[in-house]
Amino acid sequence: MQPYILKKSPPLCGEIPVQRSKNASLPALAAALLTKDPVTLLNVPDLTDIDNMLALISSLGVTVSRELSSVTLCADTISAASFSPEHADRLRASVLLIGPLLARCGEARLLLPGGCAIGSRPLDQHIKGFCALGVRFSVADDALIARCDNLRGTHIRLDSPSVGATENLLLISVMAQGETVLDNAAREPEITDLISLLNRMGARILGAGTTHLTIQGVPALHGASHTPISDRIAAGTYAMMTLATGGDVFLRGANPSHLSSVLHILSQIGAKIIPDTDGLRIRGAKLHPVSLFTAPYPGFPTDLQPPLVALLSTVPGESFVTERIFEDRFRYLPELRKMGANIFVEGGTAAVSGVPALRGASVEATDLRAGAALLLTGLCAEGETRLSGVPHLLRGYTNLERNLTGVGAPIVLPDP
Ligand code: UD1
Repeated sequence: MQPYILKKSPPLCGEIPVQRSKNASLPALAAALLTKDPVTLLNVPDLTDIDNMLALISSLGVTVSRELSSVTLCADTISAASFSPEHADRLRASVLLIGPLLARCGEARLLLPGGCAIGSRPLDQHIKGFCALGVRFSVADDALIARCDNLRGTHIRLDSPSVGATENLLLISVMAQGETVLDNAAREPEITDLISLLNRMGARILGAGTTHLTIQGVPALHGASHTPISDRIAAGTYAMMTLATGGDVFLRGANPSHLSSVLHILSQIGAKIIPDTDGLRIRGAKLHPVSLFTAPYPGFPTDLQPPLVALLSTVPGESFVTERIFEDRFRYLPELRKMGANIFVEGGTAAVSGVPALRGASVEATDLRAGAALLLTGLCAEGETRLSGVPHLLRGYTNLERNLTGVGAPIVLPDP
């Protein structure tokens, strides 16, 4: 795919429609496997991660119909044995199919999943929970084989609040016999959204938005229709790009209540933030350095750490950003340094000394949010930036180029 050619941007001004959440849509698609009835998701973002998940689901024998942005899945027949390894390998969220497949078919066989290269990303918390519910595991070649005859509700305490493990354990325990209690659960808004879909399908889950979830198993679920929440990571990325260019943008559809920690940090940096019922307006002003660490929700999201560090690399003074979720999430820094960023990492903390000007360079996105960071930097740098690795960006941002050029960003595709 063609690289993006970026020039120094004038202040971004206007309106950007914020897409629906990728990370809420993926578990919602997995939830559709739990019933023989059709499940319809509305306003699903047009992303390669969604395409890969749908291809994988369809390889299980599920009927997938797409009409504009709505997707209907009908899992009246489903075969756990016939998944497409090619798609599972590309997508970390493919692991979320294990829970529903076990609940529906009593077995699941998945390749160890792909996704962004940002650290070791083990699955021990998923497996710990599955085993407690009565699942047995074996490994053959590169695949994980899971089997169960009888799922029984139990008490599970996660060692750390993993988003994926919480979702997977919800997706299986809704159909276990009796009560499951999940403690130290993650409480990201995407999990609350999944609970709301599952409850609409007939599940009985209490405790949404807390770390203590109680699930009363039911024998079967039924169809439902659902619109995933707005994408808080896309909204945060566009907000940071607006600040980096000193712009003034209305983020239509952004949900300020899901962005509290992000908006708190951005206002410390100097942003003017005006929440509204239809979204939020963000305006650049004189920016200041800041210190923060990433944390599970409601803390500052790790997915916004790369674009934030990119923004801070242009802010005069010394900022400190500590990454506490993924141990290897500063891999993009060598690319940022090529553009003149002055960043030093020690013990999981990036010390960012803002420089007066960044310079354009040829850089490569190595994962989704690293791509967002480099795109932001390219819009602030003097001269031309050639950003390759654009397919990583298309995994998570819908209409990225159109949204940004619509508010004045000079992004061009080179002549073929
Ligand atoms: C999800 C998001 C991702 C986000 C992350 C953290 C999706 C599709 N992806 O990823 O964008 O960056 O949450 O907010 O929703 N861990 C273990 N054992 C496990 C599971 C996780 O040690 O069994 C560790 C991971 O290595 C990581 C931390 O827990 O260090 C958080 O991982 P987790 O919350 O599970 O992230 P994902 O669900 O993979």
